[in-house]
Amino acid sequence: MHFTNLLALALSLGTSQAALQGFNYGSTNGDGSSRSQSQFQELFKTAQGLVGASGFNSARLYTMIQGGTTNDPISAIPAAIASETTLLLGLWASGGNIDNELAALKSAISQYDDQFAKLVVGISVGSEDLYRNSPTGEKSDAGPGVQPEELVDYINQVRSVIKGTGLSGAPIGHVDTWTSWVNSSNSAVNDAVDWLGFDGYPFFQNTMANSIDDGLSLFNDAVAKTKSAAGGKEVWITETGWPVSGSTENQGVASIANAKQYWDQVGCPLFGKTNTWWYTLQDADSSATPNPSFGIVGTTLSTKPLFDLTCPKQSSSSAGSSSSSPSTSSSSGSGSSSSGNGSSSSGNGSTSSGSGSTSSGSGSTSSSNGSTSGSATSTGSSSGSSSSANGGKSSTGKGSSSAGATSTKASGSAKASGSPSPTVNANAATRASGSAFGMIVAGIALAMLA
Ligand SMILES: *[C@@H]1O[C@H](CO)[C@@H](O)[C@H](O)[C@H]1NC(C)=O
Ligand SMILES: *[C@@H]1O[C@H](CO)[C@@H](O)[C@H](O)[C@H]1NC(C)=O
Ligand SMILES: *[C@@H]1O[C@H](CO)[C@@H](O)[C@H](O)[C@H]1NC(C)=O
Repeated sequence: MHFTNLLALALSLGTSQAALQGFNYGSTNGDGSSRSQSQFQELFKTAQGLVGASGFNSARLYTMIQGGTTNDPISAIPAAIASETTLLLGLWASGGNIDNELAALKSAISQYDDQFAKLVVGISVGSEDLYRNSPTGEKSDAGPGVQPEELVDYINQVRSVIKGTGLSGAPIGHVDTWTSWVNSSNSAVNDAVDWLGFDGYPFFQNTMANSIDDGLSLFNDAVAKTKSAAGGKEVWITETGWPVSGSTENQGVASIANAKQYWDQVGCPLFGKTNTWWYTLQDADSSATPNPSFGIVGTTLSTKPLFDLTCPKQSSSSAGSSSSSPSTSSSSGSGSSSSGNGSSSSGNGSTSSGSGSTSSGSGSTSSSNGSTSGSATSTGSSSGSSSSANGGKSSTGKGSSSAGATSTKASGSAKASGSPSPTVNANAATRASGSAFGMIVAGIALAMLA
């Protein structure tokens, strides 16, 4: 075995010790009501207790603000403290409410102090704001976005808010569709962040061959392109998933069987190796089921998922792992592949839903008629206004503009094994690399024995 291979192996093993795993959590329920602390807690505990899976103990949130308030901190925070769930915080950056988001962040820091700080693994300033600011987002009626310079200003404001506080070590990033990260007009944002949050949905890449069998390669290709725009910074998988039900997008068919295939082929190689917040635990409840719907547990919150979450035995190459895992260095990346079909337009985003993300997904292309705002909507908005939010995916609630605030966050539960444990904090990334180094050493030792 060549040393370089050994190194890659050691790195991948090492990173796996520390990677964060969780789901996305909006701030609202299916009926638009705000999630309470106990509701967040139930979600987090459910994630921790999922049958067939472990380590889902991190929650990505979209807003700092509790629904129905001006700028009270979101109740996902005390729920995370109570359930030992790490938090990828989010500030909703579109729609002109950033001052309230910042106020809620400050209040959370002073109100919850160290108990809170030790759970925070990162802060995302915004979610898909650049996508919504693009022609595709506008066509999809995804709601207000922001210009890159504005976002950079907000990022700088967050840096000053956390300076000298318990959160001062939290790495600051931004979450957007991968198509936004590779748009060079947004490069000021790439430069301003500590890490890049990747949202990508092959299901919505409806201008390309996007059957479930194309899912892994479309995903890997999008990650490779994002990495090459990242200038060596870490790429975290902040949203991906395949719908369990809903309308078809070109060759993309929403079904439980396909959601499982995507989990196995895309999710499993990531889990434990690359920071990943899956989309999603639950996006539907008895009050509403979005179309498409991505929730792996269906409409009744339960630790019994709709499909077997047990990961297949690791076949050495499972394509994904190496190349897909963003955090890994990169080189390998399948390069820019083309995949192409891009330019075309076409798309028919038909369903409402999808559209939002579509874009994200769709590679460079644009097109997709995102038809209704729907999509986006679902994703996020519930509470708020409408659409916007998470790129498209559903419900969960993220909010849109104003809503933004609404949106909630998610949380992941902790407990399970492996992961860095709730105590992790801002330094998860650092630790990860530390342990990677340890594994390299171990790998070398093994090689010498051999
Ligand atoms: C690229 O980014 C700029 C700045 O955000 C935006 O105005 C433009 O519409 C984007 N282009 C595409 C094709 O999305
Ligand atoms: C591009 O689109 C055409 C027409 O849709 C399709 O036949 C072809 O397979 C696509 N190419 C790729 C790389 O997806
Ligand atoms: C996109 O949507 C618009 C409005 O829905 C429709 O008129 C147009 O034909 C669509 N374009 C494509 C390519 O489907």
